Parts: sequence; C-alpha cells; structure tokens
Amino acid sequence: MQKILNIPYSVQWNDTHITILNQQALPHHTEFIDLHTPGDVFQAIVSLQVRGAPAIGITAAFGAALSAINAKEEELAAFKKKVEEDIQHLASSRPTAVNLFWALRRMGSVLAKAKTVNGAKTALVHEAISIFTEDEAVGRTIGEHALSLFNTGDSIMTICNAGSIATARYGTALAPFHLAREKEISLKVYACETRPVLQGARLTAWELMQSGVDVTLITDNMAAHTIHAKGVQAIIVGADRIAANGDTANKIGTLGLAILANHFGIPFYVAAPSSTFDLSLPDGTTIPIEERNPEEITHIQNIRVAPKDVAVFNPAFDVTSAELITAIITDKGIISPDYKENIAAAIR
Ligand code: MRU
Repeated sequence: MQKILNIPYSVQWNDTHITILNQQALPHHTEFIDLHTPGDVFQAIVSLQVRGAPAIGITAAFGAALSAINAKEEELAAFKKKVEEDIQHLASSRPTAVNLFWALRRMGSVLAKAKTVNGAKTALVHEAISIFTEDEAVGRTIGEHALSLFNTGDSIMTICNAGSIATARYGTALAPFHLAREKEISLKVYACETRPVLQGARLTAWELMQSGVDVTLITDNMAAHTIHAKGVQAIIVGADRIAANGDTANKIGTLGLAILANHFGIPFYVAAPSSTFDLSLPDGTTIPIEERNPEEITHIQNIRVAPKDVAVFNPAFDVTSAELITAIITDKGIISPDYKENIAAAIR
C-alpha cells in the first residue's frame, strides 16, 4: 500500500504502549505521546489529543488491549471483570462518535470468548491491531469511491478534519484528496476553519498541505459567499454517527453546509466507514450530541474574548437530515437515496 508522504500515523501500537500524534499541539508542533494505560487513553480522547470518529475507536480498542496486557489478575473471571471495567470506562470518554462503542464492542466480545488469561491477552491485542489495519484499507476504498465523483479541477469544500489523522490512514472525507495527489489529479479544497476547536484551520489545513493538496482556508461564516464566488462544485464531510435512515451527526457546522449545498444546487456528500452506522437508531433525533466546555467559545488561546459569565451553548456536533444528503460514500460503495432501504442492504 502506498504511503501518503509527510503525514505521521495518528496512532501506533508499540507492544507495551501506544504512541499517538498529539493533535492538540498541531500545527505548531508535530509531537508524539506514549500512552501506557487505559487511563492514559481515556484522558487523550477526552482532551482531544486524539480525535475523529475512527481514530477514537481505534485508540480505545488499543486502550482495552493495554488493559489486558497490564492486568495482574491470574484468574480468568477476575481478569475479565477488570478489563470489562476498563472497557466501560473508555466508553464514557465521548458520546457522539459511534465508532468508539463499535470498537469496544468488538473488544468486549473477544474478551467474553477467551478461555485463558494469556489467550485473552493475545486475542485482544490482535483484535485491536485488526481494527486499525482494517480502517486503513477502508479509508483507501472510501477515497477511491469519492474520487470517482469528482472531476479534475473541481473545487470542493469540507469542514472539520475527517482526514488521515482522524483515522488509521487516508481519512474519509479527505481520502479522495490524498488519492488525487497520488494519481496527480488536481483538486482544490476549501477548508472551513471549524469554530470553536479549529479542526479545519489547525488540522485539515496542516494535513492537506503536508500531502501537497491545494487547500485554501476560510472562516465558517465565509462558506456561502465562497461557494458562490469561487464556484465550489461539491461539499464533502465526515460523520460521527449515521442512523438507519441516513440522518448524519458530524461536526457542528455540517448542517449549515448541507443547507447551503441544497440552496446552491451542488452535491452534499458524507464519507464514512461502515463502523459509523448505528442501525439501532431509526433516525437522527436520538443521537447524543456532546456539549463541551464553554471556554472553547469564550476564550481564544486562553484569552477571554466574551464577557465574563455570558451564557454559552457549545454543542460539538449537529445532525443533518438525510434528505439534504446527495450520497453517503462508504467502504461498501456509494449509497444513494432511498437511504432506509439502501443502507439496510449495504451495511450489515
Ligand atoms: O470533535 P472531533 O474533532 O472528534 O469531531 C470530528 C468530526 O466531526 C469528524 O468529521 C468525524 O469524526 C469524522 S472523522 C473521519
């Protein structure tokens, strides 16, 4: 498999610990942190040092593997109880991205089937590595499908970071841009800065520049004008959870872009792996939306920019209803409406 030049892996397994790219330090420093315990992993997810739905799932799976290899319990039932507790704790790190629960469910079922402590340790490490390597292949497939929807010279808008560093490799919404670079197809990307945490400005701009993609940064409130003034041909975004009818939770601001795409008559694509679908939810109304620290809004780089004690609403995600989505690009192919029927057929 070809490598994207100059972009470090977001997560790597190193036998006794994992090493993550500290996404909070970007774009100023390319800094790596070693995580030795499930508690370290929990903190890294909560603090957004690692973020992005697939990367959260992969890192949590490695957290469960670290729990297993660190466990001192020699008796199988006590060992399983300890690892299960750590899995439950990891599952409480963030609420919206379903990949977290999907990955931990896979780890939990491997744990449940284990017959010996040593067998469980080996099997859990293997399962976490499989979750990682499968995601790398999935990202590349999503990229190939997405690239088939674009034409040379297209200008495409995106929000947040659904890229290499939000996954094992390649990303979802950003995968077609990395592949386009490999294939020397020219595409232009408009990246929304993504207030308040600036995943677009700090991460997507950095990642695409590392890969040599033609990227232009805009603030979120410039999206409508930019689509019109620059003739943007399509919008592509990632996803944190997709319900059975295609309703999609993604980074706050995504819904606004979908409405704009509809207004301007351009396609609005969601790119996501099968692990992002939550078929237990008939629609998006019950997707849990994370609300984060008000200081993300009242302060910029630790400097207060709003009056003290102002009321703040800081949802990290919104839900775009399926009727605004032109197609959902997955590792199982491109899913078009009718979503209820076509998602059920594609995603099992
Ligand atoms: O809060 P974040 O940075 O974890 O939010 C990430 C997103 O909303 C991404 O678009 C989504 O997880 C897809 S990542 C391939």
